[in-house]
Amino acid sequence: MANDASAVSDAPSSAVSNSPLADPFTPPADSSLWRKNFLLGAATASYQIEGAVDEDGRLPSIWDTFSATPGKVLAGDTGAVACDHYHRWEADIDMLASLGLEGYRLSIAWPRVMDAAGRPNRKGLDFYKRLLNRLKEKGITSFVTLYHWDLPQHLEDRGGWLNRDTAYRFADYADLMSRELAGTVDAWATLNEPWCSAYLGYGNGHHAPGLANDRFATQAMHHLLLAHGLAIPVLRGNDPASQKGIVANIGRGTANSDSAADQRAAHLFEVQHNAWILDPLLKGEYPQDLFELWPGTEPLVLDGDMQTIAAPLDFLGINYYFRTNVASDGAHGFRDVPLEGVERTQMGWEVFPDGLRDLLTGFKKTYNNLPPIYITENGMASDDKVIDGHVDDTQRISFLKRHLAAVDQAIKAGVDVRGYFLWSLMDNFEWAFGYERRFGVVHVDYSTQKRTVKRSAELVAKFLKERKARV
Ligand code: FCB
Repeated sequence: MANDASAVSDAPSSAVSNSPLADPFTPPADSSLWRKNFLLGAATASYQIEGAVDEDGRLPSIWDTFSATPGKVLAGDTGAVACDHYHRWEADIDMLASLGLEGYRLSIAWPRVMDAAGRPNRKGLDFYKRLLNRLKEKGITSFVTLYHWDLPQHLEDRGGWLNRDTAYRFADYADLMSRELAGTVDAWATLNEPWCSAYLGYGNGHHAPGLANDRFATQAMHHLLLAHGLAIPVLRGNDPASQKGIVANIGRGTANSDSAADQRAAHLFEVQHNAWILDPLLKGEYPQDLFELWPGTEPLVLDGDMQTIAAPLDFLGINYYFRTNVASDGAHGFRDVPLEGVERTQMGWEVFPDGLRDLLTGFKKTYNNLPPIYITENGMASDDKVIDGHVDDTQRISFLKRHLAAVDQAIKAGVDVRGYFLWSLMDNFEWAFGYERRFGVVHVDYSTQKRTVKRSAELVAKFLKERKARV
């Protein structure tokens, strides 16, 4: 199987080479992607595209503060303007629709829609209402993430995710959003990637708010998951017809050798990357191995918290990008051992589609209550340039094809995967890497805000058109 997936990138299989559909992207005839009910869309996040950080009553977020701090973001970039999507949303939605994309995953900026006293900010809310109504008019399925990392700064000033109260404030925010937006949202995700919020935000400081302490990371994670668990029944009550879920980024860890110590290291890598989040959500408990890796970091958990966190889900969003090869650090942990001679992206991340398939099939074995899955992010960064009006993003085309083949393999192995969102609709503010790393299937010229559809997006559009035309 492993070889099958990578072979797809090198040469078209004989099954498709004679077909008029053959191109470097179109999936083979037997791929599950041809099913019309397999949702294919694109994703973005508020802070990464909106800009307009001071407009219409938006309050500062932790990413405004963090990106304004010298040395935190490459080249000193900030999300102040980003893709100016707050002003260009209509044209952006037209672009999404013209590509034939069937789903759009966006996030709401919490500091745009609520003031510090918890009162609604009408102007901010209206922005999302207009956007969601337009998606509905265009027949595009909307996946709305409530929290894609832009915590209101006033909540961080009171301890952020280290403060249990933030979980209750999040439930209030979920309540307001689902009352206001009920009927316009097809699927709600509470959090995007709690691993990044907790570990990168509070464990190693690479992301806002920039704190670095393992103990903080586990406590922040607990409050994030609690926030999620408190919000789920609120969303169900206010907007019963929609799907409710959460988005987790998962990581594949492989061992550098067959030694027991390296095997254990790879296991611990996946415990902290995956089980740390999925076990509480799906089993109602933290994996004890986590505290072998980070001794003495058990979070403060109150009675009933784990039941709250394990609220049943309608879907699980999975974000996947790369694998990490590790060896034992000689103590109770792991260290990265980057492999030589492997294909990497502009981020330095290894291209490893098999990891996605193996994780999905592994989760199916581990969790007997695994909900239906949507791949809510997958994609890659490359240093794309517009030449004569075109962007030929060859590596991305091959990357997407191979990862979609891996998803198809997981489906054929019995995993219920219902859709896939490209990360990202357009180049945007890539957090600590600013604007240098281009993940979009649409190129953005940040000096003019001109959008140029890349070759990858053209091929996805071509495939969707063919699929739609099929009887
Ligand atoms: C994920 C984030 C997303 C984007 C991609 C590249 O971790 O959810 O916002 O930055 O990585």
